[in-house]
Amino acid sequence: MKTLNIDLDDRSYDILIGTGLIEQAGRLIAEAVFPSQVVVLTHPTIKSLYGDKLDSALSTVGMKPNWIEIPEGESSKSLTQAADIFDRLFELNCDRKSLLVALGGGVIGDLTGFVAAVWLRGLPFIQIPTTLLSQVDSSVGGKTAVNHPQGKNLIGAFYQPQRVIIDLDTLKTLPENEFKAGLAEVVKYGIIEDPDFFDFLENNSAAILAQDPACMERIVQTSCAVKGQVVEKDETESNHRMILNYGHTIGHAVEALTHYTDYLHGEAVAIGMVYAARLSCNLGKCDPGVPTRIQALLEKLGLPTTLPKLDPDEIVESMTHDKKAVQKKIRFILVTQIGTVEIHNDIPPHELKKVLQAG
Ligand code: NAD
Ligand code: GLY
Repeated sequence: MKTLNIDLDDRSYDILIGTGLIEQAGRLIAEAVFPSQVVVLTHPTIKSLYGDKLDSALSTVGMKPNWIEIPEGESSKSLTQAADIFDRLFELNCDRKSLLVALGGGVIGDLTGFVAAVWLRGLPFIQIPTTLLSQVDSSVGGKTAVNHPQGKNLIGAFYQPQRVIIDLDTLKTLPENEFKAGLAEVVKYGIIEDPDFFDFLENNSAAILAQDPACMERIVQTSCAVKGQVVEKDETESNHRMILNYGHTIGHAVEALTHYTDYLHGEAVAIGMVYAARLSCNLGKCDPGVPTRIQALLEKLGLPTTLPKLDPDEIVESMTHDKKAVQKKIRFILVTQIGTVEIHNDIPPHELKKVLQAG
């Protein structure tokens, strides 16, 4: 097991990465918190896969959790769902020492984190992420949220977990398309911070797709380390943390314009990363080899890299509504070379349209 510490003063915590960690979760949780009771939030499918293991691990340290089952899907990240959970926490007499455990992907993690941030003005919570995306991205860094009908993640808080327990074994039951979607965020870390990691991904794509254990360990460890370092520098995204949004400006527009049904988040981000690199190249920020390498790697990993048939004007319009846009100016992360990116706040819309029109 590898331990990474996220150093955020009194909000610091460890990320534990390894195999067979759900079986040890009782001890790993008890090392971090002394809860009055434990409530696990998860989806029914995940409970059926991992519920017994977690129950028996918690029983080894005398904890008997209550379970709250949440329907699957993005629509569960809602104030209505959060209100149902508050009712249950009230019935369970949850006090300030009650621990919430998020067992699932980003939907469960974001929702549980949000509830933990606001119930009784803050309960301790622990993330046990079970999708690749949640292991390399959403469980780390303390962004918690539910959606508003007008936009994703509009209602939320920065609220750090007490610990993140990443059991790589859970990836074995993950549907293949969800696994590949998580790989898009992994590639992103290579592009924004770590050229050697990008080389590693290029040279090991077959082993990665086969979920070779050593590769998965390196992938999750490096991704969490890169994200952790960024979060340590800028926890509340006043500037530097924005580099984590590389590829997301176009990606979010693609998701929104296809009504969140045609693409998983990571798939839309994969497309966005290619077009962001082409834009960087057109603006003279990087040489043409950069977008070519990014596209080739994403394709090797089975991810989409071409925009669907969408009107470029609509894509640009959608970007001005993104919650990260300020005064309708489109913020963009541009790549200068593999491993280095820059934040730009005022990209000329005609340059963007040129890249989008080229298809
Ligand atoms: P998800 O949580 O919806 O999980 C995807 C599907 O996989 C679900 O059907 C789930 O039941 C299933 N699943 C999860 N783990 C499984 C396993 N081990 N075996 C079998 N099935 C399993 O999707 P996601 O991609 O993990 O998360 C997406 C969410 O994350 C979005 O709401 C997004 O906004 C959020 N997000 C948050 C951050 C952040 O920093 N907080 C970052 C990125 C994304
Ligand atoms: N997923 C981007 C961030 O955590 O900032």
